[in-house]
Amino acid sequence: MPLEMDKLSRPEIFDFHGVCMTHFFTDNWENVQNFQARPDDILIATYPKAGTTWVSNILDLLNFGQTEHQTSIPIFERVPFLELIIPAYGSGKDMADNLLTSPRIIKTHFPIQFVPKSFWEQNCRMVYVARNAKDNMVSYFHFDRMNQIQPEPGEWSSFFHRFMEGKMVFGSWYDHVNGWWEKKQTYSKLHYMFYEDLIEDTGREIDKLCSFLGLSRSVEEKNRVTSGVQFDSMKKDNMVNYSTNFVMDFKISPFMRKGKVGDWKNHFTVAQNEQFDEDYKKKMKNSTLQLRTEF
Ligand code: PPS
Repeated sequence: MPLEMDKLSRPEIFDFHGVCMTHFFTDNWENVQNFQARPDDILIATYPKAGTTWVSNILDLLNFGQTEHQTSIPIFERVPFLELIIPAYGSGKDMADNLLTSPRIIKTHFPIQFVPKSFWEQNCRMVYVARNAKDNMVSYFHFDRMNQIQPEPGEWSSFFHRFMEGKMVFGSWYDHVNGWWEKKQTYSKLHYMFYEDLIEDTGREIDKLCSFLGLSRSVEEKNRVTSGVQFDSMKKDNMVNYSTNFVMDFKISPFMRKGKVGDWKNHFTVAQNEQFDEDYKKKMKNSTLQLRTEF
């Protein structure tokens, strides 16, 4: 029997090996750490709200094409969320173990140091998506309002400070994007991409993904994927828009909310923007990462 939303209570954030987490992502820690990856597994990794679902859908379509699989199974079942465990409902780890597809596409929001070791041992391909911090923060704020298994976001101004302090579920945005960026310098099977690039030219980013994955797809196929994953198509598609997910309350905010670069301008005050930019410079001073907050 499916769990009812009102049976779940919003979790507390706590420090877990130096990263802010909630029990929904740590209760299955041992099993997740012992997860047995296969050499052809593809790991899609992001800080929450950076474009996971978008890229998951692209990877799924590129690998398996438009079949009944896409029209009948929600994306969160096709691409299990490895570390998620909801009591009486199930775990992403079990879902991944039970996936019949090959390759398996598996989602994680883990910072680099939490990735289970067998992904490295098996030399798996990984796709990381980064999104500029300002839009990422705004998207995360609305997500925490509507998702009953996330902590209450509180007022925007306090959320804003908490984000800069890294006291969010899955920790600091700054550490996350930098940790994966550093790994990319030494691990060749990591494709690091940007939400803003996908908005700018989805087709170009799909071409890059195909060459990373060693997939040869016809121009027609790639065009079909490109148009099928545009925001408006995905927003309408119940198998990717999370409308069938029981922990989210769409009356508060939809999962597919705006899908834009620069929506932060509708949330940040001028003073907040100055404060953010100053703090950002300090936190990112040793990083070569460049993210675009507008075009
Ligand atoms: S989650 O919960 O962490 O898996 O969320 P995630 O999928 O990473 O991020 C959700 C945000 O991505 C936007 N999105 C898209 N934008 C443009 N085009 C497409 N196709 C697309 N699909 C998802 C989604 O709208 C969320 O961003 P916001 O800014 O909140 O709209």
